[in-house]
Amino acid sequence: MPDYNSEILQLQAALQYSPNNLPLLHLLANTYFKYQFYTEAEATYKEALLIDPQNKELKLGLAHAFYACNKTDAAHIVVEELLAHQYTAPSLYMLLARLCFAEKDYKNAKENYEIAVSKDKFLADNDFLVEINHAINQNKLAVPMSHNADEVEDEDGFFTEILEKPNINFSDVGGMENVKEEIALKIIHPLRNPDIYKAFGKKIGGGILLYGPPGCGKTHLARATAGEINAAFIAVGINDVLDMWMGNSEKNLHEIFDTARTNAPCVLFFDEVDALGASRSDMRNATNRFLINQFLDELDGVKYNNDGILVLGATNSPWYLDTAFKRPGRFDRLIFVAPPDKIAREKILDILLAEKPIDKVDTKIIAQMTEGFSGADLKAVVDLAIESKIPESIRQNRLVPLNTNDLRQVSAQYKPTTREWLQTARNYALYSNESGSYNDILTYLNLKK
Ligand SMILES: Nc1ncnc2c1ncn2[C@@H]1O[C@H](COP(=O)(O)OP(=O)(O)OP(=O)(O)O)[C@@H](O)[C@H]1O
Ligand SMILES: [Mg+2]
Repeated sequence: MPDYNSEILQLQAALQYSPNNLPLLHLLANTYFKYQFYTEAEATYKEALLIDPQNKELKLGLAHAFYACNKTDAAHIVVEELLAHQYTAPSLYMLLARLCFAEKDYKNAKENYEIAVSKDKFLADNDFLVEINHAINQNKLAVPMSHNADEVEDEDGFFTEILEKPNINFSDVGGMENVKEEIALKIIHPLRNPDIYKAFGKKIGGGILLYGPPGCGKTHLARATAGEINAAFIAVGINDVLDMWMGNSEKNLHEIFDTARTNAPCVLFFDEVDALGASRSDMRNATNRFLINQFLDELDGVKYNNDGILVLGATNSPWYLDTAFKRPGRFDRLIFVAPPDKIAREKILDILLAEKPIDKVDTKIIAQMTEGFSGADLKAVVDLAIESKIPESIRQNRLVPLNTNDLRQVSAQYKPTTREWLQTARNYALYSNESGSYNDILTYLNLKK
């Protein structure tokens, strides 16, 4: 009988008598691993972790087992978690080096290899080091790729069902003239005059990042943009992409971009882009890091043709966004979507009331008294005012239409939701306004001419 068998059998027998014996389970898991029974090792580490969920050695063992089973994403998650808890075992860094290598992130592979060896010189593995150096030299110019790049694509595209054809356009958006102009420059004029743009070697499309307080029309405008140019519209919440099983997020992201490319002209709208906020070098956030690289790759359009695609991103927290997004060719325009001014509020109220049962409503008066209200706030005011008419309508058995006074009463009691955001934004604009990115906020707040 081979040696390993007796060792494993003995441990298994001992466990029969003492099934929840943590040291025994740990030893069995290590022994499985030692004899290259990786699947069994993985299962046993997991079993032991059920008894002692915080045990870092067990987690490290599990990460090694995941890696050995080719589950690099899962391994990475565990490694990240250990690092986040200040666990710094030398072999953790070596494992991280191997994971980075598997993910074609050769620079970090080398860095972590060096950390591991500096902590424990017996971990040195010259063959691995040669491999890393070779890959670095080969890939000086290459960009990180999706893990699943060689997988065959689903013909219809996975994401065709997310395509929309919005039936609103710029006339449904009050105010925001500067944003509309910027969008016109990037996509509307180019689509109308493609020959001129081509002659000048200009691409049609690009990336614009909209930021501002909630409810001020970022999503609404994105949708209206697609309607304005009669283009397809795809809305993606970054949190949804991140929620998809991690190993697939990059592939899914690629398919989203591909769906946009096959359906150009197309407005591709990414909401909550700040969810991709962590700095790319932040090891604790490997999920984000891969996705960011993939996102930038797709956005750059070096490998792919993004002609006719307008990528709009929206965020309430631009300060969390990796600066790599803001480079030319990516989201190179950062536009502040401020709370609507008086004229815009009047327009928004007119739009909101267009199909509502109203009597005489002077939207000018309501616009006047709703300084700081977002579009969503105005919508809430209209909804509340309509609700306030319901009891009377029931009593009179007919729709009692809204009047100016109803709206005035509700507005007077309503607290606008933009103030808190503006307070936060003010601090960033005053104290962390690198290269003047947030000058628009200062101007809006009258802090700078
Ligand atoms: N400028 C506007 N013109 C017309 N309606 C608007 C405008 N701004 C906001 N609205 C109305 O308010 C609602 C909320 O706006 P929207 O969802 O676009 O805000 P947002 O900026 O995307 O907010 P968030 O940051 O919370 O995602 C819209 O559905 C729309 O009805
Ligand atoms: Mg939105």
